[in-house]
Amino acid sequence: MIVKWSTDYQVNNIEIDKEHQSLFDILNDFYKGIQDGSSKEKLARLIEGLLEYAQIHFTHEEEYMQSVNFPGLDAHKKEHEAFMKKTNKFYEKYTSGKLLLSLEVTNFIKEWITHHIKNEDKKYAVFAQK
Ligand SMILES: [Fe+2]
Ligand SMILES: [Fe+2]
Repeated sequence: MIVKWSTDYQVNNIEIDKEHQSLFDILNDFYKGIQDGSSKEKLARLIEGLLEYAQIHFTHEEEYMQSVNFPGLDAHKKEHEAFMKKTNKFYEKYTSGKLLLSLEVTNFIKEWITHHIKNEDKKYAVFAQK
């Protein structure tokens, strides 16, 4: 396990909290796949799953921010886009044989997600509570 969800990550929206927990689960599966020395195909599928789920989550979250008129929506969307772009690049490089999926990639994803929830997602949580 590389990440563990805790109440420190709560954003006061049950659905979004659940999605964050699922993201952590997917990331842990991916990490396990690397540790177990899973096949290239399997690792590719795991990272595809992560990208797909992240996109679904980001869309939900953006809809939520819109629904509460969160003023930081545009900046937040840009953060999501940057993550998708960078992680897609990793995926492309990996599937074309230009990159080995390593702990470095896993750590980037982990650091980004945990930092993003604690710093960016928390902003709309605080705003929506006012
Ligand atoms: Fe989020
Ligand atoms: Fe977010």
